[in-house]
Amino acid sequence: MTSAAIAEDGFLYALRRVTEAAARAAFDWIGRGRKDEGDAAAVDAMRTVLNHLDIDGRIVIGEGEKDEAPQLYKGERLGRAPVKGAAAPLGVDIAVDPVDGTSHLANGQTNALAAVAMTPQGAMFDPGPAFYMEKFAGPPAVRGRIDPLAPTRDKLRVLAGALGKPVAELSIYVLEKPRHRRLVEEIHAAGARVALYPAGDVAGAIVAAMPGGAVDALMGTGGTPEGILAACAIRALGGEFLGRIDPQLEHERQAVARAGMDTARWWGVEELVRSDRVWFSATGITTGLLFDGVSRGGGHTRTQSLLLSAPDSRRQVLTSWVETAGAGR
Ligand code: FBP
Repeated sequence: MTSAAIAEDGFLYALRRVTEAAARAAFDWIGRGRKDEGDAAAVDAMRTVLNHLDIDGRIVIGEGEKDEAPQLYKGERLGRAPVKGAAAPLGVDIAVDPVDGTSHLANGQTNALAAVAMTPQGAMFDPGPAFYMEKFAGPPAVRGRIDPLAPTRDKLRVLAGALGKPVAELSIYVLEKPRHRRLVEEIHAAGARVALYPAGDVAGAIVAAMPGGAVDALMGTGGTPEGILAACAIRALGGEFLGRIDPQLEHERQAVARAGMDTARWWGVEELVRSDRVWFSATGITTGLLFDGVSRGGGHTRTQSLLLSAPDSRRQVLTSWVETAGAGR
């Protein structure tokens, strides 16, 4: 193994600490009906660890604009202050979601996770004021083969052909939202299954991009930040991700129009993540599609994380046990 490869490993492992810290902090808020407190705890923990990394980081996807989010806001600079005489820190764009599925965390439901992604500076798509994005996520076999403008049945036919199975055996992850009623009907009419989840489409998109996973694709509209995070993970997995800005709220529609964003344009994964260098880490908060949630016992807190990076194709699921703060006293 080269020293460069060891250094890359070290960076990815350091990133794991970012999402583990957020997940452990969120654990105390699982099922307590207080999503803001749970999110705030995860934000605080994530930011503390990010500020210990040797990076010159800039948040591109964060908790909102500075006036509404005191920490991890868009544009915030993060990383340890450079040490005199040491090599310059790595300049990175950062996407964070300290809790994807804040309501699920508050309700003790499945699929809440903490995620972070990094690319070299300037490589990450900036969604401006867009909160919602229509998405297609799928495995490497369909990379470059899906026409986002094609009818649903045609997309499913291409997907089934690429995976070598009948349409009837496909399972498509869709967020359970009134806006998806027609999409669900179209998937059923084509003969495929729908896997409806009320929240958490970062996990859905990543599982869709992993061959042999519980779902074969993700379709429909969800959060734009979640879309960019998923695009980073999927770029590392070599899968397919397509996104289109799809505003759902009136003030969002106006802001997107003012910003001159084209809502008809589909963006490919290489346009959303404009570098083949990407690092991604996610840690389960509540047990879900991707991995186990946080658990505590015997004086330890256990977490499970997914680590991905490109172009070296590192793909790892790691379980960590750390001593629970205050345990045994
Ligand atoms: P939050 O953690 O911000 O609540 O996001 C959860 C989530 O389900 C995302 O996974 C998804 O992209 C988005 O909400 C969809 O938004 P909405 O629930 O408003 O349709």
